[in-house]
Amino acid sequence: MKRDSTAQTLLVATLLCVVCSVIVASAAVGLRHFQLENKQLDQKKNVLIAAGLIEEGVAVSQQEIDRLFSEKIHRVLINLKTGKVVDSSVVDVENYDQREAASDPARSQSIEPVADLARIKRREKYAFVYEVVGAGGSVDQLVLPIYGKGLWSTLYGFLALASDGNTVRGITFYEHGETAGLGAEVENPKWRAIWPGKQVFDESGDIRLEVLKGHVPPTSPDVKYKVDGISGATITSKGVSQLIRYWLGPDAFGPFLEQFHQQGQGTDA
Ligand SMILES: Cc1cc2nc3c(=O)[nH]c(=O)nc-3n(C[C@H](O)[C@H](O)[C@H](O)COP(=O)(O)O)c2cc1C
Repeated sequence: MKRDSTAQTLLVATLLCVVCSVIVASAAVGLRHFQLENKQLDQKKNVLIAAGLIEEGVAVSQQEIDRLFSEKIHRVLINLKTGKVVDSSVVDVENYDQREAASDPARSQSIEPVADLARIKRREKYAFVYEVVGAGGSVDQLVLPIYGKGLWSTLYGFLALASDGNTVRGITFYEHGETAGLGAEVENPKWRAIWPGKQVFDESGDIRLEVLKGHVPPTSPDVKYKVDGISGATITSKGVSQLIRYWLGPDAFGPFLEQFHQQGQGTDA
């Protein structure tokens, strides 16, 4: 075959494509393990930030995150319908991937449009709850995974509640695709600093916590339930209100929180 023939050019181009695809595919497979590890580490870090156990922006080593997480956090898997803890006889708790379960028809259930406040269409049957263990082994806080649609994307985060199951201790969003400077301000520590101390439920047990459009008037009698909106990002702000309303409501963590209020959690055999 001539060096500058069409056949030779095609052969070289094909070989180059094959070699490059093999390199890219091997890199993707080889790095998958590290990506997963990094993702898990990021989640642990966000649970700790939501609970106020590490400060955002301060460099914390992987070892320190692992140490704090294993010392302070007790992760339990909840059957959302019953609100009870499930153990490994029911689900492989250690390897349970909540995100994957949410899109698996066998491990999730569809949500009626009228009840789908978070606009997620399906929700997993089992969800993790991260209990922050205080002195003497009591549950000091609950960190709940929350997610739902903003304007462009699904926002994933954690909401930390005090041991009354009502007072917010912190909120984080660790994954979303909202616009930088607008919806992405959900990550801004200044906005998130408004949340601690807010109340979720009123005396009748109704969910009142919400993000307003604009500022909360300081004299408003409802100031303990209301959070300032993110300016120019009313749709993302509304999404945050709605996803909280969904996840703390009767179709998600409601049964668990109700039992937690009453007597602490039970177990699903
Ligand atoms: C390029 C572009 C990106 C936007 N990104 C967001 C966003 O991430 N979140 C959001 O709520 N609104 C976003 N908006 C604005 C919305 O379209 C809408 O105008 C806004 O949510 C209304 O909020 P406001 O009443 O506070 O202005 C974006 C607008 C443009 C033009």
